[in-house]
Amino acid sequence: MGCMLKELQTLKPLVSKHWWRYLLGLLFLITVDYAQTEIPQYIKRIIDNLLSGIDETTLRNTLLLMMLTAAGIALGRFMWRYFIHGASRRIERDLRARLFKHFMALPMKAFQDNPTGELMARATNDMQAIRMLTGMAIVAFIDGFFMSAIVLIRMFSENPSVALKVIIPLPIVTVIILFFGSKIGKRFKKIQEIYGSMSTIVQEVLQGIRVVKAFVKEDFFKNKFEKQNDEYRKANMSLVMLFGFFFPLINFIAGITMLILFMTGGHAILENTMSAGTLTAMIAYLEMLLWPMIGAGFTVNMIQRGRASLKRINEILFTPPEEKTRNNVLPKKVPQDGDFCFKNLTFTYPQAEKPVLQQISFTISHGTTFGILGRIGCGKTTLLKIITRIIEPEQGQVFYGGVDITEINIDELRKLFGYVPQESFLFS
Ligand SMILES: Nc1ncnc2c1ncn2[C@@H]1O[C@H](COP(=O)(O)OP(=O)(O)OP(=O)(O)O)[C@@H](O)[C@H]1O
Ligand SMILES: [Mg+2]
Repeated sequence: MGCMLKELQTLKPLVSKHWWRYLLGLLFLITVDYAQTEIPQYIKRIIDNLLSGIDETTLRNTLLLMMLTAAGIALGRFMWRYFIHGASRRIERDLRARLFKHFMALPMKAFQDNPTGELMARATNDMQAIRMLTGMAIVAFIDGFFMSAIVLIRMFSENPSVALKVIIPLPIVTVIILFFGSKIGKRFKKIQEIYGSMSTIVQEVLQGIRVVKAFVKEDFFKNKFEKQNDEYRKANMSLVMLFGFFFPLINFIAGITMLILFMTGGHAILENTMSAGTLTAMIAYLEMLLWPMIGAGFTVNMIQRGRASLKRINEILFTPPEEKTRNNVLPKKVPQDGDFCFKNLTFTYPQAEKPVLQQISFTISHGTTFGILGRIGCGKTTLLKIITRIIEPEQGQVFYGGVDITEINIDELRKLFGYVPQESFLFS
């Protein structure tokens, strides 16, 4: 729970900004819940009055009231959707904007550690799960809670002994939902992961399509993709299978509660302790109880999904941005014209055994043209990446105009350069 709260910290400022949307939305939602439980009361009145003889005007007035209530419910449903979905869409937009801004600030290393497809999945699929968490999950939770409370109160005030017997199977539903809920969360997480690696393949192949074609590797990647695509199907099927058990099971238990209602209610009617109208109302109430039960399952599911996605988004958001200057030293002014001076520059790629550049010392004087020659893979590109600090050098190894480049603001430093990279890249 503590760790879940930590994850939710990211959402807190985004959600609290829309508190009034949530408040209005939930007010409409609860009002609609209450109004819905009024409808069976009208039905009950009509049936009981029909059986005992009813005059035309009472019937017409009751039906008119019923229609007005129904129209109010329709309007109220529009309103809660407008406010709550409005909030969750805005939260999704703001979180995505924050994520994208963070993408821009991340150091190169983060893009080497995370495949592009993984990053893309976080800006798309995972955002969708966040929208569900901040929208439908809240609706299902509040709706489920109030709806079942109001309906139970109604049922018990209609006929306590029948109501008590009818709700006996309900705790089983809670157990089933808890059981399926955790499984659903795990399987959904797997789906998200496979989706991420699948998008990575698509993205990499499309970006490198010239290389793929040049090496006649179409079939290789076709097979690789087909395998991943099928993994995705399997992961989704395992979720579908779970839902396939879940919903029929819930419906079956709902059927049992209905059976109990007819048995006990029918009995009560025969003994004249309950009216036919009351039984009709009870049937309607029991059907209303079914949705909150399923809604609870959905809520568990949506919360699990949202949590998994938020965790993945947080992984990125909590990756520290590129440091503009090292060790928080006050950035030095960029010298106007200076020499580039290398003093015992040594650099080893992480996980590499030997350094690429070792003890290199030389000076490039201002106003001169300088060429660097060397074997393939001897470190020419690495050297250029170091002077632009795409790769961070150690302190005290590279100087511009006498200033250690790690002490210059990274943006200011990079403005000094015109750089034509070895790998060509154009926006499509
Ligand atoms: N991100 C990296 N991680 C680990 N090793 C790397 C990385 N980038 C390059 N290397 C290795 O460092 C060495 C130097 O690479 P670099 O790209 O700087 O060479 P280069 O001199 O520019 O070669 P070329 O003439 O082919 O352009 C190579 O052995 C290469 O395999
Ligand atoms: Mg190179």
